Amino acid sequence: MMKISEEKRKFLKILFYGGAGIFLYASIKNLIYLSKLPPKKIFISKEELKKLQEIYIKDDFLLVKKENSYKIFSRKCPHLGCKLNYHSEKKVFLCPCHQSTFDLEGNYLSGPAKKNLFSLHFKENSQGLEIEV
Ligand code: FES
Repeated sequence: MMKISEEKRKFLKILFYGGAGIFLYASIKNLIYLSKLPPKKIFISKEELKKLQEIYIKDDFLLVKKENSYKIFSRKCPHLGCKLNYHSEKKVFLCPCHQSTFDLEGNYLSGPAKKNLFSLHFKENSQGLEIEV
């Protein structure tokens, strides 16, 4: 068996704890940076809003238009995050992965998701809608 001198042992300990400290510092710094990123904003103009049908689906969100009010949900399924689609015959949002369904109010109806859709924050002003996704 190889013997390690006391000096080498101390050196290896310092190296190990130093490396672990640097790794931990970098990880925490990255987490702080990521948590401070502003949300992505999407703008829909008044003219575009007038042309929309009852259901408008974009990459990140689902918009339900009723008269002049809106409900906007994340397109991510609350089960495992697949992108939801709209089933026009059943008038529900349907997850293609495990078939969870949700009504147009974002309420959970069936499937493994067991949660309502996540509502997104948005602001309406004279020029249109600004959605935080
Ligand atoms: S990811 Fe949507 S039901 Fe599983």
